[in-house]
Amino acid sequence: MPSTLALFFVLLGTLCSFIYFFRTPTNNKNGRKLPPGPPQLPIIGNLHILGNLPHQSLHRLAKKYGPIMSIKLGYVPTIVVSSAEAAELFLKVHDVVFASRPKVQSADYLTCGAKGLAFTEYGSYWRTVRKWCILHLLSASKVECFTLVRKEETVLLVESVRKTAPEAKTLNISQQVGKVVEAIMSRVIFGRRMDDEIEFKPLIEETMYLAGVFNLSDYVPLLAPLDLQGLKRRLKRTSNGLHAIFDKLIDEHEQGSTNTEERNSYTDFFHVMVSLLNTPMNPTDKEQYIIGRENIRAILVDMVAASFDTTTTAIEWTLSELLRHPRVMTCLQQELETVIGRNRMVEEADLPKLTYLDMVVKESLRLHPVAPLLIPHESTEDITVTGYFIPKKSRIVVNTWSIGRDPKVWSDNAEEFFPERFEDSSIDLRGHDFQLIPFGAGRRGCPGMQLGLTTMRLIIAQLVHCFDWELPNAMLPNELDMTEKFGLSVPRAEHLFAKPTYRLVG
Ligand code: HEM
Ligand SMILES: *[C@@H]1O[C@H](CO)[C@@H](O)[C@H](O)[C@H]1NC(C)=O
Ligand SMILES: *[C@@H]1O[C@H](CO)[C@@H](O)[C@H](O)[C@H]1NC(C)=O
Repeated sequence: MPSTLALFFVLLGTLCSFIYFFRTPTNNKNGRKLPPGPPQLPIIGNLHILGNLPHQSLHRLAKKYGPIMSIKLGYVPTIVVSSAEAAELFLKVHDVVFASRPKVQSADYLTCGAKGLAFTEYGSYWRTVRKWCILHLLSASKVECFTLVRKEETVLLVESVRKTAPEAKTLNISQQVGKVVEAIMSRVIFGRRMDDEIEFKPLIEETMYLAGVFNLSDYVPLLAPLDLQGLKRRLKRTSNGLHAIFDKLIDEHEQGSTNTEERNSYTDFFHVMVSLLNTPMNPTDKEQYIIGRENIRAILVDMVAASFDTTTTAIEWTLSELLRHPRVMTCLQQELETVIGRNRMVEEADLPKLTYLDMVVKESLRLHPVAPLLIPHESTEDITVTGYFIPKKSRIVVNTWSIGRDPKVWSDNAEEFFPERFEDSSIDLRGHDFQLIPFGAGRRGCPGMQLGLTTMRLIIAQLVHCFDWELPNAMLPNELDMTEKFGLSVPRAEHLFAKPTYRLVG
């Protein structure tokens, strides 16, 4: 009996794959119309067209096939969304259908079987974790609790940059920004700076790469055992590295040997988490989730991965654009001078008054959305959108990089860095205006926006207010290299360098 059943399944499987192979790109097996898209090769589908910078390749393709485009990544049907109107359909009108995440191997390893937040499928576990993280870490009031931390760290940053200034040395901006963001986020999340023995940064950069890369094995399971890209090895190493760090921190806490030098008026996320170890996250709900060690590890991986690199990258791109556009840099410095004056540094309380800064940040995130393809979404049921059939379990890729460059929305100078375009415009980046969604939108939109934006604005304002900047080796502004490097976040390919000159009085 079992063998007959097995035989039946084998036959069924063969039949299914048969139908599958003869599927034309634009018609589903029931003759329902899929969105248009490029022709597909057997087995790999369209994987070969992605290239080194998939968001740019998909941007070019969308020009030909339209804002709702159908491609196939190996066996996985994928919908690429490349206009504001289309994004609104997927992230607002039908948000609930597209609010899940695909199961990918990298997330499985890194977050202990998707027990975190960012890569977890839509459902009650995800909802519980998200609420919990907002409550204990990401809400506006929590973010405010850490104002002092940000202040202390930016003061240290300015002091450190000032040391290089009188000798007219070139400064590794990427490094300085990376360090200050790491310090701020570590103190917010863990309540302490990471000592030098804890090498976070390389692990996080690797995580972002591995989480963003299009894994051949995820799309063509047949090839998985071969691990052609050598990703499995790297993934194991990275997730073991991160988990070891977190385990050590949890152990230290449990043995009561945590270094308490930094116990302050606020309680950081890590200490809240471990103090709630083995208790339910949602005591009042029917279905309860107990936070165990694995959940903590997974949530921490997500928080660390989502906060360090995104914020650093966003700041780096903004400073790069300012260096490339001396006119904009001058306007921003003038605003800072008018609002704050040359006698003191920027305080967080000044930020709401800095309207030009706000436009600069928007413009930078328009051209350089840190996560250009957001995090992939997955549909949870069959659905028809503007006449196109989209099967259940399709992967949804929203190309914000492309949306930010749409000349229909941003006019002919869409490629140009021109903050004044936001002057009399109501377009905001919080996920209500789909022309500008660097933080995504809807149920899966970035819950760390407040923390990310505040940190980003403060660091940029401080560096631009306290220093004049000059490119090294008499490089002209338009010679600054702006090449991108792809991953879940897209940083500069080349590190950023410039010469600071202190400009405050005293
Ligand atoms: C400038 C900085 C940041 C940018 C540009 C950014 C952008 C994004 C984007 C585009 C997404 C995906 C949205 C989607 O798939 O629809 C996302 C998700 C997420 N972000 Fe951020 N982010 C930033 C900072 C942060 C910070 C500081 C945190 C705090 C820990 C954070 C935590 C998260 C989490 C947990 C998710 C997953 C949400 C979910 O799947 O439910 N982000 N972010
Ligand atoms: C790619 O997929 C394979 C098999 O599905 C998995 O073992 C490997 O860890 C994955 N790598 C990444 C980076 O996702
Ligand atoms: C600049 O900083 C980056 C990031 O920390 C580092 O990887 C790079 O090696 C540094 N470059 C130089 C020339 O010091």
